[in-house]
Amino acid sequence: MSLLKIDRITKRFGGVTANENISFHVKEGQILALIGPNGAGKTTCFNMIAGVFPPSEGKIYYDGQDITGKKPHELNAIGIARTFQIVKPLAKLTVFDNLMVASLAKSKNIKEAQEKAKEMLSFTHLESLQHIPAGQLSIGNLKRLEVARAIATRPKLLLMDEPMGGLTPSEVDEAIRLIHQIRTNGTTIVIIEHIMKAVMAVSDHIVVLQNGVMIANGDPKAVMNDETVIKAYLGDGYVKSH
Ligand SMILES: Nc1ncnc2c1ncn2[C@@H]1O[C@H](COP(=O)(O)OP(=O)(O)O)[C@@H](O)[C@H]1O
Ligand SMILES: [Mg+2]
Repeated sequence: MSLLKIDRITKRFGGVTANENISFHVKEGQILALIGPNGAGKTTCFNMIAGVFPPSEGKIYYDGQDITGKKPHELNAIGIARTFQIVKPLAKLTVFDNLMVASLAKSKNIKEAQEKAKEMLSFTHLESLQHIPAGQLSIGNLKRLEVARAIATRPKLLLMDEPMGGLTPSEVDEAIRLIHQIRTNGTTIVIIEHIMKAVMAVSDHIVVLQNGVMIANGDPKAVMNDETVIKAYLGDGYVKSH
């Protein structure tokens, strides 16, 4: 069954068409990677799924329900969470308190929120940094905190916007393991990512955008061998057989 269905969505910003007639769906328990060059419209697509702004045209369905135009807090309440490309922790609060803020949104009491925050610390291997203000973390640890914060609400659908940007190769490997673990725990994932090694390691399905248009949609290997996709990444001068 598909948990998320994007049905012919278009988004215009004045004269710019950031997404044009995009359709794809994500099956429950799968990981879909949304890729494409800078400015392709990936974050715009996420913003519509997460309710930051509605599409100009088209519909979005989640768990069989039309969620088009719903607000981020409404979507969060029904199990959709996201991480941001530019991470936004509460810099003066400690790592633990950042997780408490996230956990409290979905907990009945402080004790339950504390337990959830501790569970997230251990899940993302941040225990030893829990008393450090988030503003002092390295980019790798900040990205882990961002993931921990998003999954503290136990989402059914997690949207991850470039979670590996700025990570070292060993941190990328760690992030790949974390993403597999999140999926094993029952969360369906849509991930925007530039690091192709990571995309190939985690995705069941790939959607490629270029200039707001979907140029490929399918199995990872088939998509990466697609001539149009190769050209989008390497330029028109590239011929596959050379
Ligand atoms: N809030 C906005 N207002 C106006 N234009 C925007 C806005 N968000 C994105 N855009 C434009 O839409 C296009 C796609 O941007 P974006 O979705 O951020 O691409 P990507 O995430 O693939 O790099 C760009 O031309 C960008 O300038
Ligand atoms: Mg983006």
